[in-house]
Amino acid sequence: MNMTVLVKRSLFAIGFLFAAAQFVRLTKTNPPENVAHTIQVSTPVGSEVSRILERSCADCHSDRTAWPWYSSVAPASWLVISDVNEGREALNLSRWGLYGDGQKAKLLTKMCEEISNGKMPMPTYLVIHRHAQMSYTDIQTLCSWAQASSQDLASIASTEAKGKN
Ligand code: HEC
Repeated sequence: MNMTVLVKRSLFAIGFLFAAAQFVRLTKTNPPENVAHTIQVSTPVGSEVSRILERSCADCHSDRTAWPWYSSVAPASWLVISDVNEGREALNLSRWGLYGDGQKAKLLTKMCEEISNGKMPMPTYLVIHRHAQMSYTDIQTLCSWAQASSQDLASIASTEAKGKN
């Protein structure tokens, strides 16, 4: 087999696999959001923190994902859709109000941890979404809010415990 034939056959095979991949579809969803359950409504969040969460986290951690065009083209779509599904599973800012206080406190601590060690927002996401990059100030703002909020939760919990005695 000469080179030209080999190249042509390879390109044909790649094209065929790409076309076939389009039939394997994951479902992109944006479930309806109940505003009362959003983090902005159910927990005190300053406008600065809200802006950071919306800008850098909401695409994977809320029910209001701005789906990019490549989320419709396999195999990129498989990666994007599963990141969003797993992201929502781990932390959903649209359903924050439905978490118990213990879960909220745990997630607040994790949020600060994940952004401080550069794990969140996912580095692969930042390659394309440059505007979502966290500055040093953003990290400090989010971390001090997270710490204050989890202290609030702890003091509510201890007041409630005292009330019961
Ligand atoms: C491109 C999608 C994407 C973006 C953007 C993103 N995350 Fe995530 N996040 C994920 C995925 C996927 C997971 C679950 C898998 C994992 O833990 O790596 C996750 C997990 C988490 C967890 C739970 C970690 C654990 O161990 O339980 C926290 C907390 C978190 N992200 C915070 C954030 C914050 C805060 C931002 C914004 C500053 C952010 N993420 C932006 C995709 C994303």
